[in-house]
Amino acid sequence: MEGSLDLSAYERPHVQDMASPFRYPGGKGFLTGYLGSKLSEIKAGERHYAEPFCGGAGAALNLLKSGVADVIHLNDADIRVYSAWRAMLFETDRFLDRLRDAKVDMEEWDRSIDLVQNADNSKDYSFDLGFATYFINRTSRSGIILGAGPIGGYAQTGRWKIDARWYRETMSSRIRWLGSARDRVRLTNEDALTFMARSRTRLPLDDCLIFVDPPYVQVGSRLYLNAMNEAKHSALADMLQGGTFPNWILTYDNHPLIHELYADRRIETISVNYSLRTTRKEKEVLLRSF
Ligand SMILES: C[S@@+](CC[C@H](N)C(=O)[O-])C[C@H]1O[C@@H](n2cnc3c(N)ncnc32)[C@H](O)[C@@H]1O
Repeated sequence: MEGSLDLSAYERPHVQDMASPFRYPGGKGFLTGYLGSKLSEIKAGERHYAEPFCGGAGAALNLLKSGVADVIHLNDADIRVYSAWRAMLFETDRFLDRLRDAKVDMEEWDRSIDLVQNADNSKDYSFDLGFATYFINRTSRSGIILGAGPIGGYAQTGRWKIDARWYRETMSSRIRWLGSARDRVRLTNEDALTFMARSRTRLPLDDCLIFVDPPYVQVGSRLYLNAMNEAKHSALADMLQGGTFPNWILTYDNHPLIHELYADRRIETISVNYSLRTTRKEKEVLLRSF
């Protein structure tokens, strides 16, 4: 372990200024300033930025919106997450209509959770699954997609109700902007290792920063799909350290396996001196190619 990376010098967008329409557990929007400064160091005509485990893509969308990234590549293996992004990006008006007309109540929550829980990852894109995933994301405790109940509880007796995080106007304007930016977004639904392997021919790697934010090695609660295991964490380490990818940044939980897989590398804990983020301190580590 070699010290901590102090992120307080980098700009951190306020929650209201985030470009992503999602709420995402462990979202990395707070790293936008840091990632942006690294991306800016890449001397390129057109700057590319990729997230092989994109989830809510907090940082990616901020970088696209601010113009620091010209093109972003979003990939997630979860068909639910992928369907939500694809529906917003490529069926934007239909998505906005559904958002405008949606009743935010337990009936809609039950219908949506049914679709989300029974989603088959081997199946193709579905608009309805995409909308249901987003509905569950905005109406469940901590924005979780899997396993969490609605805000306010099943009986809706809590202090906060199911629509406590349903900011229709803000959500709509973020999705509208996303639709308008679709030509600068490349979306895929692949396993991250496949995505990385294909990037060798698909991405201009010298002009691209890859931000890798895999599920924790130490699986806690089931916050989202975890299609990783020790062998895949190890294969990812081989790939990243194999010399093909010049610009990458990786975040992980501070787990012995990571120290083993990246033994020759500088491993910094992420230290964020913002009151709301103190719990993250010492819990996550950051590694980089440069
Ligand atoms: C830690 S979250 C990423 C959060 C994201 N950085 C953000 O700011 O919102 C991990 C994501 O990886 C996805 N995932 C899990 N296993 C995967 C795999 N093998 N390949 C690609 N994506 C995977 C999950 O669906 C989840 O959305």
